[in-house]
Amino acid sequence: MADALVSSLLDLIFGNLNSALVQEFGQARGFKKELQKLESTLSTIHAVIHDAEEKQTKSNAVKNWLAKLKDVAYDADDVLDDFATEALLQRPEICGGAIKRVRNFFSYRNPILFRFKMARNIKNVVERLDEIAAEKAKFHFREGVMETERVSDAERRHTSSFVTEPRVYGRDDDKEKIVQLLLANVNSQDDFSIYAIFGMGGLGKTTLTQAVYNDERVMEHFELKIWVCVSEEFNIKRLTRAIIESAGGMVGDLSELDPMQCRLRDILNGKRFLLVLDDVWNENQDEWDKLKSALKSGVGGNSIIVTTRIEKIARMMATLPLHQLELLSKDDSWSLFKRLAFDSRETEHHPNLIMIGEDIVKKCGGVPLAIKALGGMLRFKDKEIDWLAIKESEMWDVPADENGIIPSLRLSYKHLPSHLRQCFVVCSIFPKDYET
Ligand SMILES: Nc1ncnc2c1ncn2[C@@H]1O[C@H](COP(=O)(O)OP(=O)(O)OP(=O)(O)O)[C@@H](O)[C@H]1O
Ligand SMILES: [Mg+2]
Repeated sequence: MADALVSSLLDLIFGNLNSALVQEFGQARGFKKELQKLESTLSTIHAVIHDAEEKQTKSNAVKNWLAKLKDVAYDADDVLDDFATEALLQRPEICGGAIKRVRNFFSYRNPILFRFKMARNIKNVVERLDEIAAEKAKFHFREGVMETERVSDAERRHTSSFVTEPRVYGRDDDKEKIVQLLLANVNSQDDFSIYAIFGMGGLGKTTLTQAVYNDERVMEHFELKIWVCVSEEFNIKRLTRAIIESAGGMVGDLSELDPMQCRLRDILNGKRFLLVLDDVWNENQDEWDKLKSALKSGVGGNSIIVTTRIEKIARMMATLPLHQLELLSKDDSWSLFKRLAFDSRETEHHPNLIMIGEDIVKKCGGVPLAIKALGGMLRFKDKEIDWLAIKESEMWDVPADENGIIPSLRLSYKHLPSHLRQCFVVCSIFPKDYET
């Protein structure tokens, strides 16, 4: 399973490789060619990595190839870390606490020996990567496009009813409350009751709703369960089509709204249904009323669950009291972070990382997406300085933007476009208060 993360590791290395700090330092010290070679070999491997990850389940040879790649990737990352650290230590203007301590610690280092060691390390990594790149020809991997395969925020928010989270922390009470409400709704005379869950991005609204949707009691209670990911565009035809298809019906060549709505009514007729409208952004009551008009089954006790970031939308749609999702508690946040950042590492062997990790988790403010993203990043890092760089990044001080994106989410490297990723890499290496 850990092999599935080689692509993330490569993404991280690309970010580090392209950081201004590494580039600048590499050029100044005569490593420009080696860094270019490293980047070009990594690119050829990266182009096929997703296909390789898919094929590893069916081929031991591919699995071994990925394992070898992972070993070298860790070493490449270490080499780049050494570059970045050395570059930082060379900057006389940096005197923030942690970095200063590190510089004092390393100050005995002989620069000629260091250069010699770095040249040997980078050569070693490039040679091993070359071998791995040459070996890939025999697997006939399909090339995928690097940029499109990266998960954007919009893609992440494209959801389905399937539970993807191996363990959901701290939401048992929320889940129980919603399940009980859905079941208690059975005698209602209304066409349906609407339950709205709201809260900021990445808080776990979709995850909680998936847990409710897949609860056994809920599965037994509703004859039809329908999941629609609404997202930004609230287009009635698209949504009607999506509802029909999720309910197991066929839209065929129907293109007008009226026949589609008739078909929807036929599908719903006489059945008790649960409809999830995930990630709603529409503030227009008329649009919502149009969709609602077709959601009639003739029996009571139907339920609709809406998730949205915006309280006003929750108010507009809900018929039951709103459910404001809370931030994860300190303990649940830590458990989630620990699972991701430490993986199979024994936590007791890393007391310093634990201390820094606890501070990072505190800064994530109970938002699971941020905790997950940073925990996932640090899983590849053993050095204290990498953890400190995240903890002391100036990105934490940037205020939340109008979409409610908090700084910790900006720090979640994997979800940033590549130009911002580079910016993040630089910011995360520079300690707070450092002025370029
Ligand atoms: N309680 C939890 N325990 C573990 N992981 C969680 C929990 N809640 C959310 N996550 C993880 O955090 C990430 C974000 O969660 P999710 O997509 O449910 O947030 P959201 O509130 O629906 O965000 P958005 O407003 O962007 O749709 C997901 O990867 C999810 O698996
Ligand atoms: Mg969501």
